[in-house]
Amino acid sequence: MKRLGFLLLLLTSFLKIQGQDGKMNLFINDLMNKMTIEEKIGQLNLNNSGGFVTGSTVNEQTPRKIREGKIGGIINASSMDIMKACMDIAVKESPHHIPILFGMDVINGFQTIFPIPLAMSCSWDMALIEKSARIAAQEATANGIEWTYSPMVDIARDPRWGRIAEGAGEDPFLGSQVAKAMIRGYQGNDLSLNNTMMACVKHFALYGAAEAGRDYNTVDMSKVTMYNDYLPPYKAAIDAGTGSVMTSFNLVDGIPSSGNHWLLTELLRNQWGFKGFVVTDYTAINEMINHGMGDLQTVSALALKAGTDMDMIGEGFLSTLKKSLDEGKITIKDIDIACRRVLEAKYKLGLFDDPYRYMNAERAKTDVLTPENLKTAQEIATRSIVLLKNDNHILPLKKSGTIAVIGPLGNSGKDVKGSWSFAGGQGKVFSVVDGLKNIGGNSVNVLYAKGSELTDNPILAKNEAPFGMPGRKQSSDSAITCRELLKEALLTADKADVIVAVLGESSSWTGEASSMTDIGIQKIQQKLLKALLATGKPVVLVLINGRPMTLAWENANVSAILEAWIGGTEAGNAVANILFGDYNPSGKLTTTFPLSVGQIPLYYNHKNTGRPMDPNNKFTSKYLDSSNDPLYPFGYGLSYTTFEYSDIKLSKNQLKGDEKLTALVTLTNTGKVAGEEIVQLYIQDPAASISRPVKELKNFRKILLQPGEKKDINFDITVNDLKFYNSELKFDWEPGDFIIYIGSNSRNVKSAGVNWIK
Ligand code: BGC
Repeated sequence: MKRLGFLLLLLTSFLKIQGQDGKMNLFINDLMNKMTIEEKIGQLNLNNSGGFVTGSTVNEQTPRKIREGKIGGIINASSMDIMKACMDIAVKESPHHIPILFGMDVINGFQTIFPIPLAMSCSWDMALIEKSARIAAQEATANGIEWTYSPMVDIARDPRWGRIAEGAGEDPFLGSQVAKAMIRGYQGNDLSLNNTMMACVKHFALYGAAEAGRDYNTVDMSKVTMYNDYLPPYKAAIDAGTGSVMTSFNLVDGIPSSGNHWLLTELLRNQWGFKGFVVTDYTAINEMINHGMGDLQTVSALALKAGTDMDMIGEGFLSTLKKSLDEGKITIKDIDIACRRVLEAKYKLGLFDDPYRYMNAERAKTDVLTPENLKTAQEIATRSIVLLKNDNHILPLKKSGTIAVIGPLGNSGKDVKGSWSFAGGQGKVFSVVDGLKNIGGNSVNVLYAKGSELTDNPILAKNEAPFGMPGRKQSSDSAITCRELLKEALLTADKADVIVAVLGESSSWTGEASSMTDIGIQKIQQKLLKALLATGKPVVLVLINGRPMTLAWENANVSAILEAWIGGTEAGNAVANILFGDYNPSGKLTTTFPLSVGQIPLYYNHKNTGRPMDPNNKFTSKYLDSSNDPLYPFGYGLSYTTFEYSDIKLSKNQLKGDEKLTALVTLTNTGKVAGEEIVQLYIQDPAASISRPVKELKNFRKILLQPGEKKDINFDITVNDLKFYNSELKFDWEPGDFIIYIGSNSRNVKSAGVNWIK
């Protein structure tokens, strides 16, 4: 009976979907029958609103193009007034009144700014990450935006690449979990609701593997590395139902993504079953000319035929597709397919029912920066912070006495917002100084001195401003200012019981077009830190930055180091929560922190090589002048308490086929305060048909334990956890021995062996 009920339910939902799709198809067929070829091509054109127009006036060009049906979507419009003005023209004056699709880079929040994605991933908290995307959607959709260019799921193993800040780090398993959580958060269960927005997973594909960590640079990679290490998070986003995909700027197997038929059609649609639409990255079609693929007409035709549906900004489609059609280089079917996909997205978002449904002046006032949203932002910022070092229990600090906050980032709200907050983030942002005052209360005296500029490297200072914004003011006589700033800092430090040095990176040194060859703390800031340490007072180093940094000197010389990342609106309050011990830090790194730039790329899930490192044998894989090991490995992060792991107990040592293995450890909180531990499960397949990584993350669990409390942690393992893409790109497992690792980070693990036969 139960089964019959279930089948009926299944049938009704199937029919419902068929019905909805049927209705949509009829509507779009009817619409497309009336559209001219030019209008269809117009739907494939994603424009800006005319160069961030002032007031509510729209740039001359834009209204004309909308009126003529030559714009399908608008990106990053600066206000709801502008969006409304554009929509008015589209639905009242354009030939078939087709609404405009409004997209924006809502990356880590809209008005309530969350930590940068790399930071959020360090919380390993999928429920909170999903909630951040939910809130972002709630706030953005109230303001006219129904489409976000997020999540970015590019695996990154090179911290020189500034965009490492925008993803979830180096691990495909964790990256896939984050991708799914973000898509669920943005899209919910029903895209047509007025508070859910369409996601756009990016940058498809392999953008994070740019050679030398230089943005927009060439990528060259074997297929097995692609399938096993780089593609899984994109696939996870497709499986989670992302409505759209953005191409990347780079080559994939020699062909730029936007013109890559294998990538956009064979893999994405035929193998993975993606049904939404593909948009290029910013002018990526035009950039194919520089890649050496031909002139604008050629590359535009190539992109369309490859499976690109929408052209961001470059207007290659708008200006050449008709000509290509007339010359027989593309077919009307090619145009129809792309146009249908764009119209389907608009239909699913409910824009044909009510083009103004996402422009809600009332909700724009009530739904943004709410106490609940800010509370979540603080919670996730707090949980994203990673304690890197804490000798002699210097942390947590007491809520009494005098704290000197010193450093160019200590009182900066701007630098904790991140490079993608330009469109929103208009609420108050809490700097570290603000946070210590708020959370510390009246019994703490908080002093501040800047201490130094961010950099004395003239090239870096000049390149600092993103998106053409004015740079930071540098003093005309920097030598004097330096001395004065340092003097003031030391006078301030003298009055304090403890020094909190807030150093790191300007927010514009990470993100797009922000690659760096030196990822250490800038010399001028280091000089300040050395002077502060020389005072003999306790010094806590708080890092505000968007990438793993090289911190060997700091690690050797500073007692306490906190990786606070770029924490968003509530950054300072989050730092204070940790510094005062109101929250016991639980974040763990999702990217390796190298000892030096010379070790890059450095990542935990590397292969063994034929000559694994042996300190006593010169002819093994190592450096003459440095260890191979990172400073802080993937998965690393300390707590104010300590955890002890028992040895691993396996339910069996010999398994067959579909049997299930359970791996158990007992975790004990051996310290004096309650704390959360992220217990990590890794597996190694030491002998297979292709060389496999030394270990791969397969699961994790976040566990709260009271002091002295013990808990058994069970991980179920099946052959699904053993599968990989072999040299024929078949996803399967191979029988043999496996090593199971469980521990507190990728380096510090217990191990147990198991044999698994078919
Ligand atoms: C970036 C994308 C972004 C797009 C639109 C590009 O330069 O690579 O990540 O979504 O601009 O702003």
